[in-house]
Amino acid sequence: MLIALSGFGASQLTLRSWRGYKPQFASFKGSLLGPTRIVRRENGIFMSINPQVKNYWEQEACGTGSYATGELEGKSKEWYEAVENYRYQMEPFIHSVAQFTRHHGKTVLEVGVGAGTDHLQWARAGCNLFGVDLTDEAIATTKRRFELYGQKSNLQRVDAEKLPFADGFFDVVYSWGVIHHSQNPESIIAEIHRVLKKGGMFIGMMYGRYSVDVLKLWVKHGLLKGRPFRTPSALVWNHVESIGTKAYTVREIKDLLGLFESKEAFKILTPYDTKYIPQPIARLLPNGLGWFIAFRAVK
Ligand SMILES: C[S@@+](CC[C@H](N)C(=O)[O-])C[C@H]1O[C@@H](n2cnc3c(N)ncnc32)[C@H](O)[C@@H]1O
Repeated sequence: MLIALSGFGASQLTLRSWRGYKPQFASFKGSLLGPTRIVRRENGIFMSINPQVKNYWEQEACGTGSYATGELEGKSKEWYEAVENYRYQMEPFIHSVAQFTRHHGKTVLEVGVGAGTDHLQWARAGCNLFGVDLTDEAIATTKRRFELYGQKSNLQRVDAEKLPFADGFFDVVYSWGVIHHSQNPESIIAEIHRVLKKGGMFIGMMYGRYSVDVLKLWVKHGLLKGRPFRTPSALVWNHVESIGTKAYTVREIKDLLGLFESKEAFKILTPYDTKYIPQPIARLLPNGLGWFIAFRAVK
């Protein structure tokens, strides 16, 4: 436990470096605190992260692995049903955060549609719908899903760091678990702010750095590998999905949303946090130790 605390304590020094979202600065501080291999990766400012992110997510649209779909035929209706069942079994709180049906009739953009599961909820809620993703696989998977379910959306493969929409076009922009993968999350947020109408709402989720999930990463990739001083930022960067993933505190997310008139952000304890933790202990864990930080911001 002492080691765990020291691991997390050390990371608080890098927390300051991340607050300015300048990767080269983070790398410098990281070199004092963490292994140089990660520092070189964090120096990814000299190499582009997004092509690597794209390669990763082209392999399989998010949330469609065999853990959800078993042996079902890919992109069949049963396969999509299994993807949807699994998603809301794992992340039932999405409905209370997004509140899809409250936005009936509005013009909505989803940034990072993945397999299109939430995108389908926006369509079912009767929205005038647009969706973008970095990968061909996500766009193809979502297009096929919409054909099968008889729904409509304007889908495009783009890097959301530059959105192909006019200023003030959308009532709502939604992005769940996407922005932290991009090289420049602040560019995506500035673009989302630009394409929203005055009074429009940005709803989303990004990963939380001080969470049980990251503590488990530290046990697996830090403690058990004899590297207890690896920082939470470095662990998430190197071991969560595509390379370069970032995780935040609530305060950092509110800072990132600084352009917006009002904002709220709150942590959610997820099944990813409580997996492998005995039920009696898991039940005692507060949302404050959760892996997800959901937010709503109004322009
Ligand atoms: C973890 S998945 C989330 C997908 C979906 N929102 C969900 O919750 O299932 C991350 C998605 O973000 C997309 N993505 C990552 N960086 C992006 C960027 N710069 N622009 C657009 N999409 C991006 C990836 O291609 C991938 O489909």
